[in-house]
Amino acid sequence: MTSRYQQVQNELRKNPRTWLVTGCAGFIGSNILETLLKLEQNVIGLDNFSTGYQHNLDEVRESVSQDQWQRFKFIEGDIRDLATCEKAVTGVDFVLHQAALGSVPRSIKDPITTNAVNISGFLNVLTAARDAQVASFVYAASSSTYGDHPGLPKVEDRIGKPLSPYAVTKYVNEVYADVFARTYGFGSVGLRYFNVFGKRQDPEGAYAAVIPKWIAAMIRNEDVHVNGDGETSRDFCFVENAVQANILAAMSHPDGESQIFNVAVNARTSLNELYKYLTVTLGKHGVQYAKEPRYRDFREGDVRHSQADITKAKTLLGYEPLYTIVQGLEVAMPWYTQFLR
Ligand SMILES: NC(=O)c1ccc[n+]([C@@H]2O[C@H](COP(=O)([O-])OP(=O)(O)OC[C@H]3O[C@@H](n4cnc5c(N)ncnc54)[C@H](O)[C@@H]3O)[C@@H](O)[C@H]2O)c1
Repeated sequence: MTSRYQQVQNELRKNPRTWLVTGCAGFIGSNILETLLKLEQNVIGLDNFSTGYQHNLDEVRESVSQDQWQRFKFIEGDIRDLATCEKAVTGVDFVLHQAALGSVPRSIKDPITTNAVNISGFLNVLTAARDAQVASFVYAASSSTYGDHPGLPKVEDRIGKPLSPYAVTKYVNEVYADVFARTYGFGSVGLRYFNVFGKRQDPEGAYAAVIPKWIAAMIRNEDVHVNGDGETSRDFCFVENAVQANILAAMSHPDGESQIFNVAVNARTSLNELYKYLTVTLGKHGVQYAKEPRYRDFREGDVRHSQADITKAKTLLGYEPLYTIVQGLEVAMPWYTQFLR
């Protein structure tokens, strides 16, 4: 049987659309860009390279044909500037808004910049998209919105109090999206990503996510640090699953309503398990890592356990995650071993 994702991809190939991908030089944005270009779509990309890289765009260019690359127009600019956002949405059918400053610790260190980009910048993109009357507005929300709610698995309409400035910004995005639906009839889809991983996720710097940070340490034979006792758990989501959710959400045409969907796998992996998966997968790719992990204090602002109920995305979007964590690590590992050696 053909899946909804296959149907949508066939439809897009037959009738290409114009997409705006904000944050296209970043991890998730560049993976979305690559898939859209391979589907012969027209893509406008907006990024200010604050946490994204030219080399991510170069990699996408190398992975697509010349014709496909011609369909991409890049705007270097900042979402904190409304005029830039207005220019970027011109002639666009679908917006996939990914640009933001990620990382809980970054937001604790610098809540003001995180707020400016993630809230004011978001409002600029949302307003510009409303005024341009785009057909769909899809944005990167976050599982951090569940905050201190103890329920597991996480269900979209049961959230707690935010535990970090970052979580506040992602929650406010949802509140604005809801108010824009009620006040202006401008619908949208928020995708609450849960710990996305895959190629081009930045392994460097103080704010690197756990998977690329540990892979880099293992490849360099450095110590791996575990925050807490290692039983903290996450629903790690391979980036191709998140790309699928974006494309399905854009094609779901949220007629005047604001919707929120969890995007993950509905599995839970502890940091201790993750450590084992990484050493085994790296071993298969020629990297033997024999050190024991080093345990240290729990990290401020972190949620203890996280796992997504994905029934809503499955039912309403036809979302079917195609990769488990282990399958995703297998696919991503050659990129890391090549990039980091
Ligand atoms: N990676 C995850 O696990 C995860 C989980 C939940 C939510 N998210 C959200 O998904 C989105 C993408 O995250 P990512 O992991 O790809 O991060 P990333 O840092 O790799 O990508 C973000 C991109 O946005 C760009 N950007 C930042 N500020 C900008 C600005 N002011 N103007 C224009 N561009 C700007 C950056 O340069 C970067 O290219 C973000 O909204 C993030 O909050 C990610």
